[in-house]
Amino acid sequence: MSDLSRPTGPRIIAVANQKGGVGKTTTAINLAAALAETGLRVLVVDLDPQGNASTGLGIEDRDVTTYELLVDDAPLNAVIQETSIPGLSIVPATVDLSSADIELMANEKRSFLLHDALRQTAMDSFAWDYILIDCPPSLNLLTVNAMVAAHSVLVPLQSEFFALEGLSQLMLTIREVRQAANPDLRIEGVVLTMYDKRNNLSQQVEKDARDNLGELVFETRIPRNVRVSEAPSFALPVLSYDPNSLGAIAYRDLAAELLKKHNKIAA
Ligand SMILES: Nc1ncnc2c1ncn2[C@@H]1O[C@H](COP(=O)(O)OP(=O)(O)OP(=O)(O)O)[C@@H](O)[C@H]1O
Ligand SMILES: [Mg+2]
Repeated sequence: MSDLSRPTGPRIIAVANQKGGVGKTTTAINLAAALAETGLRVLVVDLDPQGNASTGLGIEDRDVTTYELLVDDAPLNAVIQETSIPGLSIVPATVDLSSADIELMANEKRSFLLHDALRQTAMDSFAWDYILIDCPPSLNLLTVNAMVAAHSVLVPLQSEFFALEGLSQLMLTIREVRQAANPDLRIEGVVLTMYDKRNNLSQQVEKDARDNLGELVFETRIPRNVRVSEAPSFALPVLSYDPNSLGAIAYRDLAAELLKKHNKIAA
């Protein structure tokens, strides 16, 4: 029985960094696609009002979205959509989500809405192996919801100047979420994105990250690769858009490193 391979249900990973444009969405989409490619069942939750993960995975129909999941208790089969990638589904988002932050302020359970939505028993029948949550570039209530719902936080770090700035604020938020709501929340790891090995700055950021964060930094680095940035305009992960590109290969390597860590054997 396949249940043996997932005795504790899906592993839920929040992809977060309050810095904008560091590769959160790109990592959520492409890591999800790479995991699905190994035969796993993967759900992406678009938790960003920008809806970039939804656009990048080609979702046009967004009548029922993360907003309805969080605010209106919409049923799962109404909010979850299959993508063109076998095994990969998504809960899409629209700009509606931007008002959730304020609307939910008076709700006592406001930090637990995503947690409760993802833990409802109706979720079991989908048999997800992984759920990746694409967070907005902020440490707001939406990101807190992701951290309360998740087992771990995956932090993309852009290989640019100031990359590590802001990390202490992110770590502080993780600590606060641990204390208040989710004591077992782990840091899945930090992944260097848009890495250019010919650029001294990329090398310096890598050294700083490895010196300061040690084993938390994934060995896999995601290179700056134009195919990665082109893929969303074709509504595809780079793994489908150009399967042999350096970007696609790197995201497959990242998935393999993650699976190795989790002791799961790719099919
Ligand atoms: N490895 C890469 N090579 C080239 N371009 C990349 C790479 N990773 C991301 N990009 C590009 O960088 C930009 C920012 O990436 P992305 O949208 O994933 O960041 P983000 O952290 O989700 O941004 P936001 O904070 O706005 O949600 C995008 O235009 C994306 O296509
Ligand atoms: Mg994004």
